[in-house]
Amino acid sequence: MKTRILLLGAPGAGKGSQAKLIKDYYHIPHISTGDMFREAIKEGSELGKLANTYISRGDLVPDEVTIGLVKERLSKSDCKNGYLLDGFPRTLVQAEALDKLSKDINQDLQLVIDVDVDDQILIDRITGRRVCKKCGSTYHIKNMPSKVEGVCDNCGGELYIRNDDNLTAFKTRLENYYKQTAPLIDYYKNKNLLVKVDGSKELNEVFSSIKKAIEE
Ligand code: AP5
Repeated sequence: MKTRILLLGAPGAGKGSQAKLIKDYYHIPHISTGDMFREAIKEGSELGKLANTYISRGDLVPDEVTIGLVKERLSKSDCKNGYLLDGFPRTLVQAEALDKLSKDINQDLQLVIDVDVDDQILIDRITGRRVCKKCGSTYHIKNMPSKVEGVCDNCGGELYIRNDDNLTAFKTRLENYYKQTAPLIDYYKNKNLLVKVDGSKELNEVFSSIKKAIEE
């Protein structure tokens, strides 16, 4: 079984939703740079203030900031038995930094899952997404609605719309994805680490394909 995994995919492809399923099923630490930045924004830290200027526009946070954050996280003891990266790396510079970081801790990446979804579906997923302010659970107004509108099923927290989930920021995020992140598909294909899954299917169907790749 592979325990050092990376989820690649466009904004709204379902990386976060699948990461939660993988984490709960295999107990692998989930490292989402997007979640880490949103946490820092919530805390009002200097990192949060800096990250927010980029995230709200749909731009990428500078490589040196993001790499530093992941370096610190990967050096924690819970990553000794594996890690699940979601949203990092997103540029070639970050991918090369990860090669070095994972070598340094003797934990080379074993599997890269490309969650593949058409752009039209991405727009629908992004504009319909709702997130819990308290626990971060993710919903979708049509595909995965909460039982009570605007209220989290898990903790009763208030659901909100992320400030980068609007059409203007989404367009920038998608452009950045094609320009800077999509080239990583070939990067990992050349390393024989890449498995593509059809992310447009129903949540549990996508998870079944991912489980197969992890356990193969
Ligand atoms: P990040 O949080 O990583 O955002 P993202 O990559 O744009 O991805 P999303 O969180 O939007 O989507 P997702 O693929 O996780 O989809 P989800 O599961 O929620 O990053 C945010 C920002 O932080 C970046 O833009 C950047 O500024 C910065 N940042 C982060 N990492 C960085 C890095 N490494 N370098 C530089 N900057 C960085 O699903 C979406 C919706 O679809 C939900 O409503 C969900 O319920 C629904 N859904 C999911 N799966 C399905 C399904 N199978 N069927 C139907 N509906 C589904």
